[in-house]
Amino acid sequence: MVQHLKRSATTAMSSHPLPALAQIPPQIAAVADYEAFARERMSAAAWAYISGAAADELTLAENSAAFRRLRLRQRVLADLDGANTRLELFGDAFEYPIFLAPVAYQKLAHPEGELAAALGASAMRAGMVVSTQASVALEDIAAMASAPLWFQLYLQPDRGFTQELVNRAESAGYRALVLTVDAPVNGVRNREQRAGFVLPAGVDAVNLRGMRPLPAYTAQAGASALFGGPLLAGAPTWADVRWLIQLARLPVLLKGITTAEDAQRAVDCGAAGIIVSNHGGRTLDTVPATIEALPAVAQAVDGRVPVLLDGGIRRGTDIFKALALGAAATLVGRPYVYGLAAAGAPGVAHVLHMLRTELEVAMALTGRRTLKDIDASAIC
Ligand SMILES: Cc1cc2nc3c(=O)[nH]c(=O)nc-3n(C[C@H](O)[C@H](O)[C@H](O)COP(=O)(O)O)c2cc1C
Repeated sequence: MVQHLKRSATTAMSSHPLPALAQIPPQIAAVADYEAFARERMSAAAWAYISGAAADELTLAENSAAFRRLRLRQRVLADLDGANTRLELFGDAFEYPIFLAPVAYQKLAHPEGELAAALGASAMRAGMVVSTQASVALEDIAAMASAPLWFQLYLQPDRGFTQELVNRAESAGYRALVLTVDAPVNGVRNREQRAGFVLPAGVDAVNLRGMRPLPAYTAQAGASALFGGPLLAGAPTWADVRWLIQLARLPVLLKGITTAEDAQRAVDCGAAGIIVSNHGGRTLDTVPATIEALPAVAQAVDGRVPVLLDGGIRRGTDIFKALALGAAATLVGRPYVYGLAAAGAPGVAHVLHMLRTELEVAMALTGRRTLKDIDASAIC
């Protein structure tokens, strides 16, 4: 089977990936089935980086466990004529509410990295959010994609460079900016540390090349490694959010909001959307699962801007539950990276295909014709 997956990966870049979907072996019937294949194709250190999370990884586990605790209320005999999963966000039409979340350094998973991910997403007409730390130039990814791309932004301490990055994304045709606000510093990612992860040669954040580096800083013996250093001095604040929203011509979403207070403030600042996210458990361990944080955020936002969610989504029923509790759409992270590692663009397309199909089955069996019909009464 491994050989089989390898072949479909290499054909993917030269032809349309969808025919290759037929070659995916039947053993891969759910997105979780990709994990074992992905793992055997990556170095132990890269695996620790991608699959791992912060500290004891309690939030990582909770993200999925909280979805599994929710139960659906099945409704029968509904008229499903004209059923669809369509939605519109920021002026673009999408066939279904599943986006690829921004994930850094995708060449760790596959030699074509973000190009293969964008090809897989476009084949399935899904939106993709490209990371600031992509391992491929943002313009090259845009040239590959035929479905809308959003650009995920980490505000760099060098604000002039940040502004240029925004200009580049706008010129390349990206349709929205996603400002990630929950990671001014890296989480304490022990699994990654224990594995001794460092970026291998040939994989780097190419879109950040040329940026003025932070001044070298070594904390004096006994001093804080973080406080007082240059990293936090350059960390973004709400004033920077307002600065970005003013300078950007694109809608700006804030990613990494998990409380009603911050959601309210984001909307007050002019954010065009909110992504409820805890970075897949990679920043602050022991924060709640995103699906548990969602209702309070949705209530605070009260429909003024779209609320999206990521973290722990492994099934179409998880997507359904997120929509029922107030999300307009969802994003997936690790699942598509595992598909990418195992089978390149067709693997990414297949992950999207399975999740979409599972969402449609959930809608049919709960009697919901459109996304707007999915509400909290679908959950017990
Ligand atoms: C390996 C890896 C790298 C990531 N890199 C970024 C990034 O560059 N920017 C960002 O905003 N989020 C990043 N994330 C977080 C994802 O966008 C997303 O919030 C998370 O993966 C969702 O959880 P899931 O993996 O359970 O689907 C990364 C996640 C992973 C697993």
